[in-house]
Amino acid sequence: MQDRAIQILIIDLGSQYTQIIRRSLRYLGFHSIIISPEKSLEWAKINKPKSIILSGGTINISDADTPEIPKEILGLGVPILGICLGMQWLAYIHDKNAIQAIKEGKSYGPVEVSLSESRLFKNLAKKISAWSSHGDSVKNVPAGFDIIATSNNKKVIEAIECADKKLWAVQFHPEVEQTEDENIILNNFASDICGCVKDYDKKNVIEEIRANTKKILGSGTAIIGVSGGVDSTTLAAILTPILGDKLKAFMIDTGGMRKDEIEKVKKIAKKSGINLEVVDKYKNKFIESVGQSIDAEKKRAHFREVYGEVFREVARSCNATHMIQGTLATDLIESGNAGNSALIKTHHNVDLDLGLTEIMPLSDFFKFEVREFAREFGLEELLAGRQPFPGPGLYLRIVGVPVSSELLEIVREADYEVAEILKKHNLYDKIAQTIVALLGVNTVGVKGDGRVYGYSIVVRTVETVDFMTVKGFYLNKEICEEITGALIKHPKIVRVFYDFTPKPPATTEFE
Ligand code: XMP
Repeated sequence: MQDRAIQILIIDLGSQYTQIIRRSLRYLGFHSIIISPEKSLEWAKINKPKSIILSGGTINISDADTPEIPKEILGLGVPILGICLGMQWLAYIHDKNAIQAIKEGKSYGPVEVSLSESRLFKNLAKKISAWSSHGDSVKNVPAGFDIIATSNNKKVIEAIECADKKLWAVQFHPEVEQTEDENIILNNFASDICGCVKDYDKKNVIEEIRANTKKILGSGTAIIGVSGGVDSTTLAAILTPILGDKLKAFMIDTGGMRKDEIEKVKKIAKKSGINLEVVDKYKNKFIESVGQSIDAEKKRAHFREVYGEVFREVARSCNATHMIQGTLATDLIESGNAGNSALIKTHHNVDLDLGLTEIMPLSDFFKFEVREFAREFGLEELLAGRQPFPGPGLYLRIVGVPVSSELLEIVREADYEVAEILKKHNLYDKIAQTIVALLGVNTVGVKGDGRVYGYSIVVRTVETVDFMTVKGFYLNKEICEEITGALIKHPKIVRVFYDFTPKPPATTEFE
């Protein structure tokens, strides 16, 4: 997707949020590209962007392994916005004494930032709540720079600028949804300061996804795993009209699906013309293999192993040369596969060695964007009443005890009941994701006249735009009571917990 003139270069210094900068720019209507520090100068010289953004990153600016950012980008005459580590680099490069480690712990979480007069902050209030995540900060402002934002009674420098050199920098993260600026800072920078044009259009993007995939596939045949989730199913629907018989969709019944999932997917496939085959003979193999361990990463590894095996067989059966994956930017970031970001969880379908060429047409996109694509295609039923669901499915929702058919059945039914209650109260569509998991700690309870020693269910409801960060979606007392009442009817469920912890630190799923 790089044929169009890309106006904004994002240099990736390894932040979990780098893709979010790109997503926010897309949301505002700008095309951008993410490039590693090493390749950035060459790219910039050839492509002449109107704007450069230096992302955040996880390392300290004075460490030896600081990505080698070419100083020559400062001489290109292109406005630069440094974010977090990007700001520290801009300060450090002008004054080696500019940076200092924060003495008492890292600054992590919301901060109230006071803004001064600057083109960067046009149309913003004098104070905003912003998201901060850093261990170092700029202590000494290099000559020629002005402080344009502070926090903590002016003790922390939150933003600086040197308009003469076209340099702006913020310590907090304007790209994430926790910063209450509705992307105004990025818009001010890209549009007002850099003069970038808004030419990102969803329709063109779908055509580009199709054309690029067709080109990569050439004369080959592709398979795609359709899970019933928004991503893979939408992708199959996008590609079916252009690839026709060259695309074969498979749904693997892993034993970890939600209630009625397979029937729903068959219906959607029929409507969208997707050439779908349901493969259900490997269910027990998945349960046996994943059930060998209670460790989250080992379970995922076992799941991946069987998943890979099944797909290798499926691929052989239709002489496939390519595997199309509905992997999103979030999956790649969290698996440590996007740019320089650190590993958080192994995703079941990232980097699977199937002996096929992998195509990941959605790897630049975030969930809410794919949901918009689904809407474009009239696939509302994928969205309405269907929250996202992970590939390993209910296997991730049995925590602390080995999975078994019996436990899978308990969480499947619990998941269904919670969803039905939330739907009845018109809450289901307001919640980004509901996770109903079985906690494998036995606790004591009384049912009727007898003692029971049984399981607990935890219900986690979250709101988010992109799943890189989430906030708890708080359920009120009446809803909690109704859910608890429904779940404890099961003879082996003794307690129900509710979890509204934000991410970070708690990931959306428990495993
Ligand atoms: P986390 O738990 O990482 O989840 O905050 C973010 C989103 O990703 C989904 N998820 C997965 N999806 N395979 C998937 O297809 C996986 O292995 C996987 N792990 C998490 C999760 O349900 C949430 O929507």
